[in-house]
Amino acid sequence: MPSSRLLVLFGSQTGTAEDVSERLGREARRRRLDCRVQALDSYPVVNLINEPLVIFVCATTGQGDPPDNMKSFWRFIFRKNLPSTALCQMDFAVLGLGDSSYTKFNFVAKKLYRRLLQLGGAALLPVCLGDDQHELGPDAAIDPWLHDLWEKVLELCPMPLGLSVIPPEVPLPSKFALQLLQEAPRECSAGQRGARTEPPSSPSELQPFLARMVTNQRVTGPSHFQDVRLIEFDISGSGISFVAGDVVLIQPENTARHVQHFCQVLGLDPDQYFTLQPREPHVPCPERLPQPCSVRHLVSQYLDIASVPRRSFFELLACLSPHELEREKLLEFSSAAGQEALHEYCSRPRRTILEVLCDFPHSAAAIPLDYLLDLIPPIRPRAFSIASSLLAHPARLQILVAVVQYQTRLKEPRRGLCSSWLASLDPAQGPVRVPLWVRPGSLTLPQTPDTPVIMVGPGTGVAPFRAAIQERVAQGQRGNFLFFGCRRRDQDFYWEAEWTELEQKGCLTLVTAFSREQEQKVYVQHRLRERGPLVWELLDRRGACFCLAGNAKYMPADVSEALLSIFQGEGGLSGPDAAAYLARLQRTLRFQTETWA
Ligand code: 2AM
Repeated sequence: MPSSRLLVLFGSQTGTAEDVSERLGREARRRRLDCRVQALDSYPVVNLINEPLVIFVCATTGQGDPPDNMKSFWRFIFRKNLPSTALCQMDFAVLGLGDSSYTKFNFVAKKLYRRLLQLGGAALLPVCLGDDQHELGPDAAIDPWLHDLWEKVLELCPMPLGLSVIPPEVPLPSKFALQLLQEAPRECSAGQRGARTEPPSSPSELQPFLARMVTNQRVTGPSHFQDVRLIEFDISGSGISFVAGDVVLIQPENTARHVQHFCQVLGLDPDQYFTLQPREPHVPCPERLPQPCSVRHLVSQYLDIASVPRRSFFELLACLSPHELEREKLLEFSSAAGQEALHEYCSRPRRTILEVLCDFPHSAAAIPLDYLLDLIPPIRPRAFSIASSLLAHPARLQILVAVVQYQTRLKEPRRGLCSSWLASLDPAQGPVRVPLWVRPGSLTLPQTPDTPVIMVGPGTGVAPFRAAIQERVAQGQRGNFLFFGCRRRDQDFYWEAEWTELEQKGCLTLVTAFSREQEQKVYVQHRLRERGPLVWELLDRRGACFCLAGNAKYMPADVSEALLSIFQGEGGLSGPDAAAYLARLQRTLRFQTETWA
């Protein structure tokens, strides 16, 4: 008797892989399969050996790295001592999400696929390579792949006799049942998390520390295009400790105006309380939500109403809509043929869930409360490189935040949820507390005192290097080389006075690239090339470590190019030898990057 147990495991950084996994789960349930969907790191990986059928959905981030929520799985699966027959019971498939403008396109999915084969797993079909660069998004590759996948899966696990696929217009049961309470509970649950300021054992996503914001100061000049804030938190008594290279995660919330608008469009009373029960035993209630919970708390702290809705949102809303005209449009947006129209309507102008709900008012007003958590994804924490060292600023944590705001064809400017929320908080008006916790980032500074470090951090990319330089200077480590780039000395040269002082003390060598102070753009990579002999000497003779941080789009590739040409020009290496030299630096952690979109 074939087992109908299907497991979908995902590694997701921005939520796309998670969304695709949820879609797989729904499609499996429509095919009467018993299906669980879980983040890779929340699944006990030793149990994999007992799973008959697993679909892995994995994003590739930055420079070919696995997402944070599959990092421990990644380490486990590549252990050398795993027997080559470890997974010989398992049928599997791998769906990758990546961006073909990066050199290591879908690196994680491809590598995982090969590794699972090596461990004895049987692949149901070739790896799927979803591509963000495709004009229809990753679905262009995913849709046909899923079609083939379900054929294979149903061969292995046929539907029980007499049953057929549940059609898409019939809604599946919601994940949770929401029970409205007649009265507000005596204990104010909306403030449950907010009320705790004593240190939790170790602050984490489930138990963040509510840090007091001490300063929130614009550090860019008045004529600079971007509002960049230096924000300082007091973390006394939190038990939080960090070193240079670590990142802080901040859990943002929706604006009061959006919360009120959302409640109005859905006809919800923000002061209504409810409790939540899972419908299936293996789907626990979100631990971040207090029980009982108010609608206001749910909407302001949990539902990501300011995010751009995905295709699954339209699929479910179409199922739930009582309004014929609206339903027709929603169905079009959820169909394969409607993806271009959906892209034009939603992704391109970055239209938000709240704005879409306003465009479909009859459907919005009819959403059963039970389905809110199926329809709208949770707000994700945002990571920022820590910009200060505890050795220089005890009990304090500083970050440099570029406030994200841009215009699309929509009238309202688009605003980054977390950066705009942080910028709006004013500690001078009264106490402000922000939920946060820390974790290691991707930069690990060398601990050997004599190893020089070349740091390349244009713009806010300089943040982790301020922490590194403060830490290294406090520990008496010399050999600090910082390449910093910005538009203009008088507009966005962060911490100029500090760098100058350190230079005067002989603790720092600073090289600047002001891109807009002359006709031709000058970037950090131009300065690296100019200092080619020094860079080569530091790397080749003095065993330096090269660290790069900042915008992921073009800068990392441009800087790598500059390095390769230095290796050829100064080191006399051939093209392939220069590439091998860089790869070796990378392998031995002497070339490290922390980049963000
Ligand atoms: P620009 O905005 O004048 O083009 C911090 O954002 C600095 O990084 C700015 O001076 C910016 O220049 C520069 N920058 C933009 N693109 C870059 C790239 N591909 N490589 C390095 N620096 C870049």
